[in-house]
Amino acid sequence: MKSTRRGFLSLAGSGGGAGAATLHAISARGREAWEAENGFRGAPVFLPPPEADEIRISSNENPLGPGPAAVEGLRAAYGSIMRYPMNAATSDTDLRRKIGGMFGGGPEHVVLAPGSSEILRNAVRVYTGPGRALVTAECSYENPIRTANWMGAPVKAIPMTGGLGLDLDKMAGAAIGAGLVFLCNPNNPTGTVHTLADVTDFVNFVKKESPYTAILLDEAYYDYVTHPGFETGAELAMKHRDVFVGRTFSKAYGMAGLRVGYAVGQAGTISKLAPLALTFGTSVLSIGAAMASLEDPDYIRNEVRRNEEARKFTLDFFSSHGLDPVPSETNFVFVDIGRSAREFREACAERGVFVGRDFPPYENSHARISIGTLDEMQRATAVFAEVLGLQATDNQQQ
Ligand SMILES: Cc1ncc(COP(=O)(O)O)c(C=O)c1O
Repeated sequence: MKSTRRGFLSLAGSGGGAGAATLHAISARGREAWEAENGFRGAPVFLPPPEADEIRISSNENPLGPGPAAVEGLRAAYGSIMRYPMNAATSDTDLRRKIGGMFGGGPEHVVLAPGSSEILRNAVRVYTGPGRALVTAECSYENPIRTANWMGAPVKAIPMTGGLGLDLDKMAGAAIGAGLVFLCNPNNPTGTVHTLADVTDFVNFVKKESPYTAILLDEAYYDYVTHPGFETGAELAMKHRDVFVGRTFSKAYGMAGLRVGYAVGQAGTISKLAPLALTFGTSVLSIGAAMASLEDPDYIRNEVRRNEEARKFTLDFFSSHGLDPVPSETNFVFVDIGRSAREFREACAERGVFVGRDFPPYENSHARISIGTLDEMQRATAVFAEVLGLQATDNQQQ
C-alpha cells in the first residue's frame, strides 16, 4: 500500500457445528452465539426464559434494557399498531428523518432494518459475488462471511495485528478490486478501536485505488467507546460513494429484542441497499421506542458510565490475576485464558454464568465475556477465579 499519510498500524488506546443443539446448550450460549455457530441450519428453537439467578454475559447486550423515555415511546406506539409503519403517528420516515438529521442529511440518507444484521447481510448481497470478494478481519463479527459463503463470493479474512486490532494496512491492500470491505470498528470480539484519522486514511486509500469497492463501517458498539481518538465514520460515508455506516439500537440503547438498526450514507448508496430491505421490516413499536430513545441522550451517557465502571472492574480482575485482557472500548472483553473457550464456557455454564462462543482462530486461548451489571461481574469473576484456578497476583481484593 503506497499512498497513505502514515501506516494504519496503530490500534487506538492499546499500543498496540451445526448439529443437534440441545435446548440447554442454546440457552447457555444465547441466541446470537447459537446463530453464529449454526446459521439457519438447525431446527427452529425457542429459548427458555432466563433463570432468575443466571448471569447471561454471552451476547453483548445492555443488561438493564432501554431507558424510561424509550419505554414510554413504546407505550405511546401501541396507539398505532393497527397502522403500517408509514401511517403510524411516528412513522418509519420520521425515524429516518431524525437519524438522517443527526448526520447532516435527510431520510434519503438512511435505510432502517430489523437489526443491523440485516444491513450487513444486504450489504454483502449488493456488493459481493463470485468475482467480487468480501474483505474482513480474521477475527471479527461473522455475519458477513456467512452471507458471502452463501453468495459464492470469495472471502479474504486478514489476520489480526499483534494487539488483536484490525490490520488496516493489509486490509487496504486486499481491498483493491474487492466488492466490499467489512470494517468493524469497534471490533467484535476483540473490543479494539481505530481512530478516525486511521479510518479516514483507510477509506481515502481504498476509494482512490479501487473506486468501486464498497466499505461498510460497522459501528454497532459506537456508543460504548470512551477513547478520545475514536469518532464516527459517518462523514466519510456522506462524502464517498458506496461507503456507509451500520448502527444498531441493540447494544447501548438496550433494545436487542425490538430489532432496529440502520445504515447511513449518500442517497445513491442507500438507494442500492434499500430495495433489499424487508417491506415494513421495522415495526411501529420498535420505531416508537427508537425515536423516543434518541430524545434521551442522558440515558446513553449513564449507560456508558455504568458499562465503563463494570468493564474496568472486569479488566482489572483479569490483569490482577495475571491474565491478559485486550484493552476494550466496548461492552465486552476478550481475554487470553490460556485454554479452550469451550471448556471454560461449559464450566461457567454449570455454575450459571453464560459467556461468549468460540472465536476462531483464538478458540483455544481466548474467551469473550460481555459486561453485565457491576453486581453480575462481581459474581461472575468469582466463578471465573474458581473455574480457572486463579490466585490474585497483587493485593487487590476481587
Ligand atoms: C459488530 C456487530 N455488528 C452487528 C451486529 C448485529 O446486531 P443487531 O442485528 O442486533 O443490530 C452485532 C451483534 O452482536 C455485532 O456484534
